[in-house]
Amino acid sequence: MHILVTGGAGYIGSHTCVELLAAGYQVTVIDNLSNSKQAALRRVSEITGREPDFVRADLRDRMTLDALFRDRGFDAVVHFAGRKAVGESVQIPLEYYENNVGGTLALCKAMAKVGIRKLVFSSSATVYGDPASVPIREDFPTCPTNPYGRSKLFIEEILHDLYRSDDTWNIALLRYFNPVGAHRSGRIGEDPNGVPNNLMPFIAQVAVGKRSRLRVFGDDYDTSDGTGVRDYIHVTDLAKGHLKALERLSANPGIVPYNLGTGRGYSVLEMVRAFERASGRSVPFDIVGRRPGDIAICYADPGLASAELDWTADLGIEEMVRDTWRWQSQNPDGYE
Ligand code: NAD
Ligand code: UFG
Repeated sequence: MHILVTGGAGYIGSHTCVELLAAGYQVTVIDNLSNSKQAALRRVSEITGREPDFVRADLRDRMTLDALFRDRGFDAVVHFAGRKAVGESVQIPLEYYENNVGGTLALCKAMAKVGIRKLVFSSSATVYGDPASVPIREDFPTCPTNPYGRSKLFIEEILHDLYRSDDTWNIALLRYFNPVGAHRSGRIGEDPNGVPNNLMPFIAQVAVGKRSRLRVFGDDYDTSDGTGVRDYIHVTDLAKGHLKALERLSANPGIVPYNLGTGRGYSVLEMVRAFERASGRSVPFDIVGRRPGDIAICYADPGLASAELDWTADLGIEEMVRDTWRWQSQNPDGYE
């Protein structure tokens, strides 16, 4: 099987390339390197002993995309490419819609032209907005609160329309909870540009001495210790979920959303303590005001993925923080 991986040089994409290559898939990556480095793919080859083909191009470059589909004989597509920073999406919403929605339209058109109709799409738990209760099931109402989240929901809707127009499409909408961690080799991991937006890379950069203190956004939520609770999932478990989804697409399931989470939530302070234990470093922090748009608590009911994909997360919080620390301490400046 030959898989096209869009955005495959990025954080989740590179880890998924490792699992695909290790499982014997042929892999071609298309990435414009707008938020990643080609070094990640060199390290994927180093880990697996196999090389993904790499095409440096924007997904919206229709000529390149058409030529790729015409020439390479892909069997399915795993689609990660997109912009993902919530705050930035509020500042430059049109860029987000153009890239995320426009890129997906270009991709689906190119796929349809050559009759490839198996697609695994990176959606997000952010489509649920602030849920009325937890754990969150796939049939809960969707109500994203920012342009990034809406771009994911719009794409889900577009893919539903596509399926209604032609029911030979098979599409998995993977709603990720909070991906963290790194490959256990320490060779690939998350390498954010500038100041990290997300908790785990921020904690890791404080522990390694790149930043002085963590700011904990609010300790007055209705949670066990007042700080926000999230369903952190190891990126290797997440990557494996894509292989399970690809297998499932061969059984012609139509279009189905799946939560990929562990089903267990941890607070910000629990993550800080776990990281301190794993790294042996202290992570000083200050409690500051809530971050606008944040919700108190969010974790998945991963039962549907377990039942239909035969997928559950194996790795726990200890592995998540251990592997993040290995990556961060061995690569303090990321791929530079
Ligand atoms: P990432 O930024 O590391 O990877 C995305 C990749 O896509 C990057 O390599 C980037 O260069 C590439 N890219 C972006 N726009 C492109 C375009 N138009 N053409 C070609 N390549 C393009 O992000 P990630 O954390 O690996 O996330 C992958 C996907 O998962 C994204 O769609 C993201 O929205 C989604 N997701 C991520 C998280 C998370 O917390 N990391 C959570 C939920 C969903
Ligand atoms: N937090 C801090 N300090 C920081 C960063 C985060 O206290 O410096 C807190 C947040 O307030 C929240 C928790 O840590 O309580 C997690 O925050 P993240 O920014 O790591 O993650 P979010 O849950 O806000 O959002 C992430 C991704 C979204 C994705 C969502 C669900 O950024 O793209 O998970 O998958 F949609």
